[in-house]
Amino acid sequence: MKFALPDLPYSQDALEPVISKRTMFHHYEKHHASYVKKLESALDDSRRDDSLEQIIGDSYRREDASVFNPAAQVWNHTFYWNSMSPDNERLKDERLISLIDASFGSVDKLLQEFRDAVLNQFGSGWAWLLASPDGEPLQVKSTTDAVNPLPGEFKPLLTVDVWEHAYYLDYQQDRAAYVDGFLDKLVNWRFAAENLDR
Ligand code: FE2
Repeated sequence: MKFALPDLPYSQDALEPVISKRTMFHHYEKHHASYVKKLESALDDSRRDDSLEQIIGDSYRREDASVFNPAAQVWNHTFYWNSMSPDNERLKDERLISLIDASFGSVDKLLQEFRDAVLNQFGSGWAWLLASPDGEPLQVKSTTDAVNPLPGEFKPLLTVDVWEHAYYLDYQQDRAAYVDGFLDKLVNWRFAAENLDR
């Protein structure tokens, strides 16, 4: 086995009350873990030395959904856990603030666009804050099912999981309550700023 379930960056109750321990348990130990298992069983031995990012890019180009879907979902969930923090630290990185101002007009306008992307995503998927290959402009985009930005040129800075399993236990159909809690209390701006420099 090459790919293991990565540790969460915080305890399973750390994001309460926005995301309950019960949701975290099922989301991390059941859903995320099952994507790791599915990836392990879908990979043939010739690919086991490749990185997860290589496997995502290669299976995307070959249109091999049996590998792409679990590989992307493993990556997406790890990125999602890190896109949140219990610290509720405000955005302080000057470079990221000026990029957001130049791209959206203000942080509030970015948050509104991000919220709209989450609410307008039809069915399961992900919403992303992305940096262009040259850094700016930043963009908000949503993707369907397991699809992520890795095969393209844009660099992900943050994501939110828009699958119902991310919020249904806590909010039932109320996706807006989930994304409002995420944007108001959980965004890990430090992680977004670090991704800008990666
Ligand atoms: Fe998920």
